[in-house]
Amino acid sequence: MSTVIKGGTVVTADLTYKADVRIEGGVIVEIGPNLSGDEVLDASGCYVMPGGIDPHVHLEMPFMGTYSSDDFESGTRAGLAGGTTMVVDFCLPAPDQSLLDALQMWHNKTSRANADYSFHMAITGWNKRVFDEMETVVKDKGINTFKHFMAYKGALMVNDDEMFASFSRCAELGALPLVHAENGDVVAAMCAKLLAEGNNGPEAHAYSRPAEVEGEATNRAIMLADMAGVPLYVVHTSCEQAHEAIRRARQKGMRVYGEPLIQHLTLDESEYFNKDWDHAARRVMSPPFRNKQHQDSLWAGLQSGSLSCVATDHCAFTTDQKRFGVGDFTKIPNGTGGLEDRMPMLWTYGVATGRLTMNEFVAVTSTNIAKILNMYPKKGAILVGADADIVVWDPKRSKTISAGTQQSAIDYNVFEGKQVTGLPRFTLTRGMVAIEESTVKTREGHGEFVRREPFQAVNKALSTWKELVAPRKVERTGIPATGV
Ligand code: URP
Ligand code: ZN
Ligand code: ZN
Ligand code: ZN
Repeated sequence: MSTVIKGGTVVTADLTYKADVRIEGGVIVEIGPNLSGDEVLDASGCYVMPGGIDPHVHLEMPFMGTYSSDDFESGTRAGLAGGTTMVVDFCLPAPDQSLLDALQMWHNKTSRANADYSFHMAITGWNKRVFDEMETVVKDKGINTFKHFMAYKGALMVNDDEMFASFSRCAELGALPLVHAENGDVVAAMCAKLLAEGNNGPEAHAYSRPAEVEGEATNRAIMLADMAGVPLYVVHTSCEQAHEAIRRARQKGMRVYGEPLIQHLTLDESEYFNKDWDHAARRVMSPPFRNKQHQDSLWAGLQSGSLSCVATDHCAFTTDQKRFGVGDFTKIPNGTGGLEDRMPMLWTYGVATGRLTMNEFVAVTSTNIAKILNMYPKKGAILVGADADIVVWDPKRSKTISAGTQQSAIDYNVFEGKQVTGLPRFTLTRGMVAIEESTVKTREGHGEFVRREPFQAVNKALSTWKELVAPRKVERTGIPATGV
C-alpha cells in the first residue's frame, strides 16, 4: 500500500520545489515528478512541509493542585488538526522520586496518543540517585534533554548549585539542559508583597515577574552552562532581556537556543487588564505576556536566527480550574493552550505578513527543533527515509479560531476570534492521514515514543573544545623551597 502526495510544492527549511512524495510503511520512499501510488492525495495549490514538532507541551501534567486538562489523546489530536505531528512533553519527578519511576508514570499516560511523542526529563532535586539515574535515562531510555525550573519556589525549582551539578552531568553524558528562566526567589517575594498590598487579581501575576526577572535568570543559566561546558536551551523566551542574553551568548560563540511561544509572539500584557476575571486568569502563564516592544524583539530573533524555534508550552486548564485562584492570583494554575493554533497563527502573523519566509517557518516549527533535539532527519525533514510526518498546507484555507470548534478539551481559547489563513488540507502521521480539512481521522494509540540519542554534533564539538582549553597544571623546573 503506497500513498502519493501529488501536485504540491515541497517546502523544507532550505528548499522550495515542485515534486510528488511517495510514502510506504510510514516513511518517505520517493520524491520526484509524476509519481503514482495506491492512494493519491491532491496537493495542488498546497505546500508539502515537514509536520510541525512542538518541543514544549504539558499533557495531563500534575501542577498547582490539579492536572492540565488535555491528555495525550486530546493534545495530540489538537496538534494534528493544526499540522503538528509530534510533541515533546516533560516528565516531572517529585523532588524525592526516582527519575525512572516517574518516567514509567509518564509512559503510562501515553497509550491513547494519536501522534508521536518524546520526553524531556526534569531535574527537580539533586542527590546521588539523580546523578546515577541520569545515565540510565540517557543511555537506556532514549532521552537526551533535562529540564531545570529556576522558578516555582518550593515546588519544582532548583538552585544554582543543583543546576550546575546537573549541567556538568549533562556535559558528561552528551545531553542538553533546558531551563525555565525566571528568578524564583524574587518572584516569590514579589507575590507575597503584592498579596499583602491587596493586589490579588490576575494582573498581579504579570507584576510579580517582570522582564528583568527573566533576563537575570537567562544570563545566570548561560553562565552556568558555559562553566559546565554544555549547550543550553532556554524555553519560553518571552522578552528582550532574555533574548538579549541569548543573542550576546551566541555572538560570543556559545551554543544557546531560545524558544519563543506563539502566545508571546501574538498576545500582549493588555490581556491581564481585562475587566473580566475569567478572561485575564485564562491567560495567566509564566512568563506572562509582555508588551509590543518585547514582541518585536522575539520576531526579530526568529528573523535573524538568534531565536531557534516556536513552541506552545501547551498546558491547558479549564475556567473552573483557573478559578482556584479567585482572591489569590498565586493559586491560578499557570498555563495556556495553543497546540492546534501554533502553525496557523505563525503562518498568518509571520509568513503572510512577510516577517518570515516559508522556509524559515519550516525551520522554526520543525526542522530546527528536530536538529537541536537530535532526531533529524527521522523527524523534521522531507527526505527519502524520513518518517512521513507531513502537513499538506493550504495557504488559502481560513477559519476564525473558536473554542466551540477546537479539539482541545478546555472551554475557551486564548486566540478566540482570531482569523487565520493557512491551514492543513491533510496532516499525515507516519503516513496515516489523520486530518483531511476539517475531518478528524486520528487513531488512538497510533503515536509512538521517539528515542533521542545523546552527543548531538554540538555536544561533541563543545566537549572537544572544552577538553582543548581545560586547565592544565604547569610542570615547573625551579620550585622554591617552602616553609622558610
Ligand atoms: O505557565 C506555564 N508556563 N505553565 C506550564 C509550566 C511551565 O512553566 O512551563
Ligand atoms: Zn510511552
Ligand atoms: Zn516553564
Ligand atoms: Zn512548560
